[in-house]
Parts: sequence; C-alpha cells; structure tokens
Amino acid sequence: MKPWGGRFKGKTDPVLERFSASIDFDRALYRYDIEGSTAHAEMLGKIGVLNRKETKDIVTGLGEIRKEIEAGIFIFSGSLEDIHMHIEARLIEKIGDAGKKLHTGRSRNDQVSLDMRMYLKDHLGNVEKGLMALLKNLVQKAEKEKTAIMPGYTHMQRAQVVPFSHYLMAYYYMFKRDRERMKNILQGIDVMPLGSGALAGSTMPLDRDLVRKRLGFARLSENSMDAVSDRDFVVDAIYGIAVIMMHLSRLSEDLIIFSSNEVAFVSLPDALCTGSSLMPHKKNPDALELIRGKTSRVIGDLFSIFSILKGLPMTYNRDLQEDKEPLFHAVETVQDALTIMGLCIAGIKIDRKRMEHAVSESFMPAVEMAEYLTLKGVPFREAHGVVGRLVRDCEDKGKTFKDLTIGELKGFSPLFEKDVFACIDPQTILKNRKTEGAASFKEVERQINAEKIYCNR
Ligand code: ARG
Repeated sequence: MKPWGGRFKGKTDPVLERFSASIDFDRALYRYDIEGSTAHAEMLGKIGVLNRKETKDIVTGLGEIRKEIEAGIFIFSGSLEDIHMHIEARLIEKIGDAGKKLHTGRSRNDQVSLDMRMYLKDHLGNVEKGLMALLKNLVQKAEKEKTAIMPGYTHMQRAQVVPFSHYLMAYYYMFKRDRERMKNILQGIDVMPLGSGALAGSTMPLDRDLVRKRLGFARLSENSMDAVSDRDFVVDAIYGIAVIMMHLSRLSEDLIIFSSNEVAFVSLPDALCTGSSLMPHKKNPDALELIRGKTSRVIGDLFSIFSILKGLPMTYNRDLQEDKEPLFHAVETVQDALTIMGLCIAGIKIDRKRMEHAVSESFMPAVEMAEYLTLKGVPFREAHGVVGRLVRDCEDKGKTFKDLTIGELKGFSPLFEKDVFACIDPQTILKNRKTEGAASFKEVERQINAEKIYCNR
C-alpha cells in the first residue's frame, strides 16, 4: 500500500503511476534527502518524540540505505513515486515501527524544498569552482599573450586595434560578474524550510533552529505557506546558469569564427574538436557548437520554470514536481560547458602574424587620424569628414594609409605633418590610449595584475 493509501479504495491507475513518478530523475536528491531526514530524526530524538533506540535505528538505517543506493543495489519502483517515499518505505522495511515515526511533523512539501536547496548549495558551489578555473585560465592566457594585437570588431567589421589580452579580459569580466551573481544567488538559497509541514507548520514542538544548524543553513524560512510554495530560488539558480551559458555561447561563437579557415586567428585544441565521417581533412569545433546549442535548451529551462510557476495558486501544487528536470539539466550542462571552455582557453593556440596582418591591412587607425586633427583644433565632426573622404579615396585607388605620402595627406588637410604616421602606428595607438579601461597595453596590464589577486584569494 502507498504511504498515503489510507483514504483510498482500490488502486491508482497505472497510467497515473507512470505519469506522476519522478523517481527516474529525483533520485539525484537521495543524499540530501537522507541527510535532511537524519537531522530531522535527531531533532525528534532531542525533543522526545523518538526515544534513543528509535533515533539510533533511524540514523543507522538511513546510513545503510545511502550505501545501498551508492552500491547500486537499492530497488527503485515506479509505484513509490519519488525519492522521499522510496527512502521512507525502505527504512520501514528495514527497521519496522520506528521508521514509521520519521515523518512526524514533516511533509514531502517542506522536505522536497529542503532537498532542492541542499542540492543547489552543493552543485552551485561546483559551478562557482568551474567559473573560478575559467577565470584563472583567461587571466593566464591574457598574461602569456600580453603583446599580441588584433582587430576589435563592431558589427563584425574591423573597428579599432586592441590587445588580444584586452579581448580575453572582456570575457573575464563577464564571467567574474557571473561568479558574483552566483554568490548572491547562493545566499537566497541558504534558507531552511523544514518545520513548515504541508503548508501550516506543526503542533509538535519541533526545534527548527536545531535542524538549521545541523544542516548548515544560514536562516529559517519565515512563513510556512511561502516556504512550501516558493521556487524563486530555482528561478534564480536557472537564471544565473542561463547567463553563464549565454556568455559561454558568445565566446564559443567568437572562437568558431576566429578558428575558421577564413579568419584563422586561433587554432582549437584537437581534444575539443571532431572529424568528419566523409571529409578526411576536417577538424570541426563541435564542443563550442554544442555549448552554443545547449545554451538554447538552458534558456528553455528558464522559460519552463517561469511558466510552471506563473499560474500556481498558493501553496504546494504537484506542478512543482516539474521544476526538477529543467533545474538538473541546467546544472549539469553548465558544469560541463565551463570545464570545456576552461580547457579550450588553456589549450588554444593563436597566430599572431595573421592577427597583426589583419590589423595592418585595415583602415582602423582612421579614428586616431581624426583625433590627430582634433588635437590641432579641428572640430571632431569635421576631422571625421576629412578622414572619411581620405578612406574613400584610398579605397578607390586600392591603397592603405601606409601607401600615402605626406603630400597626398596635405591635399586633404594642411594640418597633417609627418608625425601623423607615428600616431597611426598600431603599437603607438596601444600606448597612447589614456582612458581608464581603454584598450591599451598599460590598462590591460593593470587589469591582469588586479585580477590575478582576485583569482588567488
Ligand atoms: N515528488 C514531489 C515533488 O517533487 C514531492 C512532494 C509531493 N507532495 C505532494 N503533496 N504530493 O514535488
């Protein structure tokens, strides 16, 4: 009989059994469920609901069940719905009547919220570690390739020269924000809901704070109805993960383009690429394409949890069981994606020559040329026009700035002097930029030095 079978005549329809079973995925919570139950039992012992022997039998029984699950000998069955019922039923099977006392003052509603929060404290900790490893790889690579330069793009058109390290550090700061966001999200998760019961708390003298301390939570939930109906912490977790994935996906997209035969600024580690079943020469960036593809599904996970929640009346409704698959999918995906990107950044090889060539091929110093005239008193809009005409003229004649003589330049503005050639040299540009956070060698060095400290503290 089902643990809740008392008021029912006859059996549950097998279709409903299959439809409502969550054991195939919520078994991922077994460790937290057992830990939570152990703390709950010890508290029940402390307040005298269980005697010493009962407490001990429950705690020992739960420990054995954990071992059975980990050894792969635990028997799962669809008719027991979820992980909570499986563990409780097995406990009763093992230790008899004492096991029937475990669920005193508790509901699966507060239990599942506890389990999910414990799962997240654990797994988001791993996500944070993955982020830290990626941050370190980015700073290390930036430092190693400190002197490499590349075109910076807007609209995918060459825009202005930047240090390659500045480009890497741009992603660094995205992922650093992700890490700080994760830390905040973890604080919101750190709330202990047990003692809220099904929705209204309990007349049993439960010591909630004892359970909180024993399980290492920062705070107690304040309202029993909120505690069992709230999944904001799941929304937050998936949101935080979706942002990380979105950043990983953008970086993937860049690296796919940069590693294309046409651009070929970088080559990706072999270990993260695959070949073609037909074309022997191919080396495809599958790992990065999969990060991009899986990001779509994680964004779908965020949509799922929002739409599960938006029509739910207070308090617990079984719809809430559907929170697990999106959450677990997001958590598992981001961990692998972070690992892959960490390996990719560490293992990537860059072709400095090609990057430099792309810089020198371009009209990117047009900005500095206009600023040269502006510093001599020409209003910027006018200087912009002069250099614009100059670029058009070069394009018509198939020339670059380097091919021009000072005489030709003076034809566009008498204010041009020979020193303009030094001003539009990429290396000079990268030394001359003055603003905080600018794409200059000096600023990127400052960033690297500061962030090495952040990464190692
Ligand atoms: N498996 C359920 C879930 O994850 C546990 C809570 C069941 N509660 C209930 N009232 N049926 O949501």
